[in-house]
Amino acid sequence: MNLEALTPTKLSHDYEIKNFDCGDVDLNVFLLNDAKNYLNELMSITYVIEYENQIIAYFCLLNDKVVFDTLDTQEKSLWNRFNRRNQIPNSKRRKNYPAAKIGRLAVTKDFKGGGIGRFIINMIQSIILKKMDIACRFITVDAYRDAFGFYLKNGFEFLSTEDEGESVRLMYFDLKNIILS
Ligand SMILES: CC(C)(COP(=O)(O)OP(=O)(O)OC[C@H]1O[C@@H](n2cnc3c(N)ncnc32)[C@H](O)[C@@H]1OP(=O)(O)O)[C@@H](O)C(=O)NCCC(=O)NCCS
Repeated sequence: MNLEALTPTKLSHDYEIKNFDCGDVDLNVFLLNDAKNYLNELMSITYVIEYENQIIAYFCLLNDKVVFDTLDTQEKSLWNRFNRRNQIPNSKRRKNYPAAKIGRLAVTKDFKGGGIGRFIINMIQSIILKKMDIACRFITVDAYRDAFGFYLKNGFEFLSTEDEGESVRLMYFDLKNIILS
C-alpha cells in the first residue's frame, strides 16, 4: 500500500459508517455510535482514513492543555524537568501550556503493523502545524497500556509518574521538535 496516497476525511453528519473493527470494543463503538454526537457537541473532530472503500483507521482531535496542578514535591521537580527538557525559557514557564489531544486512534485489525499508525501520527502533526491559527505547543494522548510502545517509538513521552502502573497514561509530544528539525 502506498501510505502517501492515504488522506484524512473529516467525519460529517451525512457520512455513512458501515463497519469498523480494530479489536477494541470501545474504540469500535465510539466510531460507529458516538463520533457524530461528539461532533454535534463540538467536543471532538473525527477523521477517517479510507482504502478501497472501507475505513481502515480513524483518529479524533480536540483542544487540550498540559497542566501542572499538584503539590507533590516529586511531581514539582518533574515539572521543572519537563520545562528544562522542552527548553521553555524561564520567562515563559507556566503551570499549563496549550495542546491538542489525540482523543482516539485506531487501525483495523487487518491493517495493523503496516506503518499506518505512524503515518497517522505524522498526519496529525501536520494538521496541527498547518492550522496554527491558535497556538499549540504539545500533542497529548491518554495512551492505552498496549499502545505505550507505539507512542514511545513515535517520540511521545510520559508526562507524570503519578499514573505509573495505570492501564491508561498521559503522554505528550513537543511540536517544537518538528519546527526545529
Ligand atoms: C496502536 C495502533 C494505533 C498502532 O498502529 P499500527 O499501524 O499497527 O502501527 P505501525 O505499524 O505504524 O507501527 C509503528 C511502530 O510502532 C510499533 N508498534 C505498533 N504497535 C505497537 C504496540 N502496541 N506496542 C509497541 N510497539 C508498537 C511498530 O512495531 C512500529 O515500530 P518499528 O517501526 O520499529 O517496526 C494500532 O495497533 C491500533 O489501532 N491498536 C488498537 C487500538 C489502540 O490501542 N489504539 C491506541 C489507543 S491510545
